[in-house]
Amino acid sequence: MKHWNIALVPGDGIGPEVVAEGVKVLKKIEELDPSISFSFTEFPWGCQYYLDKGKMMADDGIEQLKEFDAIYLGAVGYPGVPDHISLWDLLLKIRKEFDQYVNIRPIKLLHPELTPLKNKGEKEIDFLVIRENSEGEYAGAGDWLFKGKPEEVVLQTGVFSRKGTERIIRYAYEEARKQKKTLTSISKANALNYSMVFWDEVFNEVGKEYPDVKTYSYLVDAASLYFVLQPERFEIVVTSNLFGDILTDLGAAITGGLGLAAGANINPEREFPSMFEPIHGSAPDIAGKGLANPLAAIWSVSQMMDHFGEPAWGSAILKTMKELLHHKSSLTPDLGGKASTDQLGNEFMKLLSNHA
Ligand code: NAI
Ligand code: MG
Repeated sequence: MKHWNIALVPGDGIGPEVVAEGVKVLKKIEELDPSISFSFTEFPWGCQYYLDKGKMMADDGIEQLKEFDAIYLGAVGYPGVPDHISLWDLLLKIRKEFDQYVNIRPIKLLHPELTPLKNKGEKEIDFLVIRENSEGEYAGAGDWLFKGKPEEVVLQTGVFSRKGTERIIRYAYEEARKQKKTLTSISKANALNYSMVFWDEVFNEVGKEYPDVKTYSYLVDAASLYFVLQPERFEIVVTSNLFGDILTDLGAAITGGLGLAAGANINPEREFPSMFEPIHGSAPDIAGKGLANPLAAIWSVSQMMDHFGEPAWGSAILKTMKELLHHKSSLTPDLGGKASTDQLGNEFMKLLSNHA
């Protein structure tokens, strides 16, 4: 019997609505596979908690989460609480404290009508972005000098440590080797003459240990063009925190939008729990109306099953999503359907057994 202990942090807005559907998927897996079981513990952290208690999570929140096999998060942020507080004090705190330095975002087209690209289909749009998730341009390092004076100067420093750069690049090479795929590094060494020259050097250095992996190296501006015009160039991509953030939204745009985009925050050493989440926010404009698309949250359950070493379930979830995307009437309005969040979820549960 395999058992996993999952911490639920549904958060704000549509977070709880989409997490509820993801939990249904996990419970369905339990039902269909007698060798698997889960337990769930829900934490009420988020913006309402902040308004009640003046903090985004319990003081010993990180301690409490440490014990779990995975964290399943909805979304955080809501009008009434400044976004930099909700983000830094909950989501980014978990990513940092648990050293989740790998962010994995699949850019995979599941239905031909979901892409705005002409003449590109499921064969051409199928790759994985591995984004550095702990330092780089988002290290929070810098200074603000002579504030408000004519000589005002602002510095935002990119931090690329040897350890941080090597480990993300090595992770990507390992993944490319394991999956027998090409590896593309995206950087900008012509303009960023310290950080990205270093990044490229490390990419080449580590590459010497992986002569079996075919590599490419693109500048980020050219890579953006290829994402749109020739997405078939990419199989596994490794890139820095900022470039990865921007490029994966571009990736979401060519594969069906935010309602479908998932991301895993991985601590590869498994010293701490990893965290699985849809990449969209709390969508206050549609919260509480049953309009949220739960498929991004469900895709992150697929990533969780892969992480647990259950790839058969990971791929069963993707196959079910693909099948469901052909039933237009069962989809939420963002995908052109009329179904509510839980109607879509219920239809998903019915189809999942076909792929188990
Ligand atoms: P958002 O992702 O919440 O919404 C952007 C647009 O996409 C909205 O029109 C929304 O209705 C739509 N949308 C998003 N997810 C959807 C889904 N599953 N189904 C259907 N439509 C969906 O981004 P926004 O509006 O910039 O941010 C709202 C709040 O969420 C802010 O407080 C922000 O800080 C927070 N946020 C949190 C994130 C996280 O927890 N990982 C990520 C991004 C934003
Ligand atoms: Mg982003």
